[in-house]
Amino acid sequence: MSKQMSHLDNIPSTPGKFKMDKSPYIHNWLRWHSSLAKLTFWSFMFLGLILIFFFRSPSSNPLPQDPSRRSLRTYNWGGPAWEKRVRSSARIRSRNGISVLVTGAAGFVGTHVSATLKRRGDGVLGLDNFNDYYDPSLKRARQALLERSGVFIVEGDINDSALLRKLFEVVAFTHVMHLAAQAGVRYAMENPGSYVHSNIAGFVNLLEVCKSANPQPAIVWASSSSVYGLNTKVPFSERDRTDQPASLYAATKKAGEEIAHTYNHIYGLSLTGLRFFTVYGPWGRPDMAYFFFTRDILKGKSISIFEAANQGTVARDFTYIDDIVKGCLAALDTAEKSTGSGGKKKGPAQLRVFNLGSTSPVPVSDLVSILERLLKVNAKRNIMKLPRNGDVRFTHANISLAQRELGYKPSTDLQTGLKKFVRWYLSYYSGGKKAAG
Ligand SMILES: NC(=O)c1ccc[n+]([C@@H]2O[C@H](COP(=O)([O-])OP(=O)(O)OC[C@H]3O[C@@H](n4cnc5c(N)ncnc54)[C@H](O)[C@@H]3O)[C@@H](O)[C@H]2O)c1
Ligand SMILES: *[C@@H]1O[C@H](CO)[C@@H](O)[C@H](O)[C@H]1NC(C)=O
Ligand SMILES: *[C@@H]1O[C@H](CO)[C@@H](O)[C@H](O)[C@H]1NC(C)=O
Repeated sequence: MSKQMSHLDNIPSTPGKFKMDKSPYIHNWLRWHSSLAKLTFWSFMFLGLILIFFFRSPSSNPLPQDPSRRSLRTYNWGGPAWEKRVRSSARIRSRNGISVLVTGAAGFVGTHVSATLKRRGDGVLGLDNFNDYYDPSLKRARQALLERSGVFIVEGDINDSALLRKLFEVVAFTHVMHLAAQAGVRYAMENPGSYVHSNIAGFVNLLEVCKSANPQPAIVWASSSSVYGLNTKVPFSERDRTDQPASLYAATKKAGEEIAHTYNHIYGLSLTGLRFFTVYGPWGRPDMAYFFFTRDILKGKSISIFEAANQGTVARDFTYIDDIVKGCLAALDTAEKSTGSGGKKKGPAQLRVFNLGSTSPVPVSDLVSILERLLKVNAKRNIMKLPRNGDVRFTHANISLAQRELGYKPSTDLQTGLKKFVRWYLSYYSGGKKAAG
């Protein structure tokens, strides 16, 4: 999926035809007909520029993928009408409700968490930059869904400190549910800067604004099971080492955990990190295997199934979205208040990390078999060696800590969860919408 997208993105930057100076034929020709050649050269350059501009225009690529370009984008925010929408979305409507800023609200997990919080009467304001790492129209569809339940998503970047300060000026959020991030393991080799931008710089910016806010909110944020990296001892426990990440994505999540420790220690911010294990379900992410396997099986395209050395199985602890949402809400509800004020620590504050998995790893080949049964189509399987570019062989969560502290108890098995995903997929991509990618 991301491969295909990057292909499209390469079109504007490789207009080979127009790089005349690379052709020996043109060079000779230039020497003999210099003035006419200059005129022709500049005409071609001009034409080239127009074509480059055309390919890069917003209609073919709504948001530039390069993060430095993305951060140059100006978002429309501010003004009385905007503030009114922000306030109304964040207004608490139940007794003992909380008001939550949800970053990454147009994302897969963010949409589900926002909708569930809103349904129980909490105030919810979303924030998302709608980047095009995967099909932004899916993010827009999620936004429309949230809009209907009264959740407003502010369009902006978590690395924009003026915007974040403004949000905290307008609303005294009690909690932040931080889900915005550059996700994906293999994409880090294509666009490493996007991971630094969102998962490091963006996270630090968010924490800077939270520590200065009065009152300081309690923060729950998404780390990842990928921090266990190359560990072989299973199941993965929170106390295990996390110092051998296998991808830049994992390294930025690990860095996030250390950064969280610092802000907790210096400023008294209450911080809870949740290590999600392969989350799937309706409204899911098109860059994840269960999603693009479904798409490719339906298209009759062959799918690549990875196998580790010596025919070792590649397995994942797939976790259904509703279970993850319950874990997120339980983390918010058990979060203690931050202790600082005015950027100063007043006393020790809560610092937690939890695994949120399902404790039953499933081989990827079994995932495919379940999909075949649900879709009533046989997959064309292409067994391949697991490349050493980020993916780990096996994940398996020990969830006893989350069970004890959060009452976390996952209840949806892969068969049941995939059935719900497939039902959603078929209805979403029928009715005029084409499969993503
Ligand atoms: N889905 C999983 O299996 C899984 C597993 C482990 C961890 N996580 C983590 O959980 C969180 C949510 O994941 P998801 O699956 O919903 O991913 P997602 O990509 O669907 O959602 C992330 C959202 O954040 C937004 N975003 C990214 N960078 C931003 C920025 N700089 N400013 C504002 N918005 C930005 C994106 O537009 C997107 O809508 C992420 O932090 C991810 O790393 C997910
Ligand atoms: C984040 O924002 C700051 C300024 O607010 C800027 O200096 C920095 O370059 C940005 N970082 C990234 C990686 O985009
Ligand atoms: C799971 O983690 C708990 C601590 O949270 C530990 O006591 C227990 O032994 C672990 N279980 C396994 C099977 O590793």
